[in-house]
This record gives sequence, C-alpha cells and structure tokens, in this order.
Amino acid sequence: MANLINGKEIAAQVKAEVAKDAEKLAEKFGATPGLAVVIVGDDPASKIYVRNKKKACEEVGFYSEEIALPEKTSQKELLNLIDTLNKRVDIDGILVQLPLPKHLNEKTIIGAISPKKDVDAFSPFNVGRVMIGEYRFSPCTPAGVMELIKSTGVEIAGKNCVVIGRSNIVGKPMAMMLLHESGTVTVCHSKTQNLQEITSKADILVSAVGKANFVTADMVKEGAVVIDVGMNHDEEGNLCGDVKFDEVEPKAGYITPVPGGVGPMTIAMLMKNTLTAAMINASVVNRAAKVNKKSNAGTENKK
Ligand code: GUN
Repeated sequence: MANLINGKEIAAQVKAEVAKDAEKLAEKFGATPGLAVVIVGDDPASKIYVRNKKKACEEVGFYSEEIALPEKTSQKELLNLIDTLNKRVDIDGILVQLPLPKHLNEKTIIGAISPKKDVDAFSPFNVGRVMIGEYRFSPCTPAGVMELIKSTGVEIAGKNCVVIGRSNIVGKPMAMMLLHESGTVTVCHSKTQNLQEITSKADILVSAVGKANFVTADMVKEGAVVIDVGMNHDEEGNLCGDVKFDEVEPKAGYITPVPGGVGPMTIAMLMKNTLTAAMINASVVNRAAKVNKKSNAGTENKK
C-alpha cells in the first residue's frame, strides 16, 4: 500500500509560512502583497480556479483584485489593462487566467505582463530563467510537484524521472526542475513509442496528460513516487486525475490523490511567488524613496 502524499496539508504549511513572511513585510515596509487576477469570458472551470486563488489571497492576508471581462473583450482592451496593472504600485503580481477566448493571442497577452509581476512564470523571460536554473518565480504547478516529491524524503538525484506531457505550463518546466535536481529525466508525449516500457522504469513518475484513467498499474514501477497532475472528470462527472488510483495505489511507494494532491499546491506556490514579487517591489520602492530623499536633500542644501 502506498503512502498518500497529502497536498492539502503541505499547501497549508506553505501558505502559513507565506502569511508569516507577509506580516514581516508589512512590519518592515508597510506593504501588503497585491495580486490582480484577470479572467475573460465565462469558462466555468476558470471561474472556480479564480475563486480559489482569491480565497487563498484572503487566507494569507494579501490584497487581491479580480477583473472579470466579457468574452468579447478585444486584444487591445486587454493589453491596455495589462499596461495599467504593470504600472500600479499596489499590484505586485498579475495573472491572466488561461485559456483565453480564441480571438485573443495568448502569447502576446502573456508576453505583455511585466516579467517582474509575472507570478505564473509564463512569460518568455521567466521561462528562460527556469531553463538556466536562475529564477525567482517558479512555475506554480511544477514547483508544487517538487515540494510534494521532497516531502516523501525520496532523493531525486540520479533517479529515473519520467514526465508524461510536454505542455509549456507543466511538462516542460517540470522536466527542467527535475533536471536541476540531477534527476535523469525522460519526457513522454502523444508520439512516444513504447510508453509503458519507459514509465515502468520510473522511480518518479509525473503524469500531466489530462486523460482520466490514463496511467494503469502495468505502467508503474513497484515502490515508485507517482504524482498525478491531471484534473479530469470521470463518466459520472466526478473530479479525477490521470492515474487509475485504485489499481496503481497498491503498487506505488507514494502517490498523490485527486483532489487534494497537486491542485492545492499550485495555488500555494502562486502565493509564494506573489510574496516574492512584493518583497522585490517593496525593497525597490523603499530604495527609490531613500534615493529621492537624498537627492531632494541635496537640492535643498544647494538652495
Ligand atoms: N489555467 C490553468 N492553470 C493555470 C495557471 O496555473 N495559471 C493561469 N494563468 N491559467 C491557468
């Protein structure tokens, strides 16, 4: 029987630490971290995600602002909004909920967010930083997965790590983060041949496919760490992951449930990134204020 990895509990610990550090930030600089969440259209799943992000902000004592725009919002209107948010000093993090309606160019929109406020770490600048292993903002879902793996005490260095899925949001940054921890990483995708042969050798298996019951017991190595990033619905409409939990759980060493595994961690890491953005912003604003004070004093002396 596998050890269950409790994402809800670990996420609560991360959020408690974030809340404590946010208090210290308020004491030192009088600053409250601020997150703007932009949602365009009426996608029901996106609405739930946005609601959960807002709730998490309340839990950790952040200011949050939800900006809900109609489906027909133009690219120019959205870009103008991002420009305004980029300039606002009370907003440290900007998140545009994806997917966007088809008429909006996701790459252009994400690219318009200031890298300093890109708390999703989706912009090309921040993606590049993840690639070279020098980053302040961790991509939230992969960062959450890393925390879950670390909670097991299983060493990543030298292990066979297999990621199923190659999305820009999860699969690719996940592979990079495992590689930075010296895992031997294989990324599988829809064109991969002999998938079962590869996954069944994984000491650490991360599934980010988006298909219910995709990972079966024969694809899993005895004692493996199995992380399920999937958020799907079964035939009865119940939330489920990619992993056929009932048959994989007895074989795995550690496994995440869905719900209560990766999902809460993604939001906790978003809070962590927003705090990081606020810390950088507060120290920059504080430094700028000191410099201004000095130069004003200099001007006054000259008078
Ligand atoms: N849509 C699904 N997951 C995410 C996420 O982590 N960030 C954003 N911005 N949109 C998403």
